[in-house]
Amino acid sequence: MIVCVCHRVSDRDIAIAASSGCPNFEALQDDLRVATACGACRDCACAVFEESRIKGGAPRARGMAVAAQALLAA
Ligand code: FES
Repeated sequence: MIVCVCHRVSDRDIAIAASSGCPNFEALQDDLRVATACGACRDCACAVFEESRIKGGAPRARGMAVAAQALLAA
């Protein structure tokens, strides 16, 4: 699902960032530019970010994070 239409940021993009250690919403904005144009997506983007942090990211995002960690460790 696209959360930020202005910058074409999806819930999956946010979940991947959250599971990769993005520390807060401001850092997420720096990384993905979400909620930095019209701002209409801010509340939804915050909710998705917080939910992803609590859950440890979306299932696919968790899998990608594990794969990335394995590659970095190799
Ligand atoms: S929809 Fe995200 S900044 Fe406009």
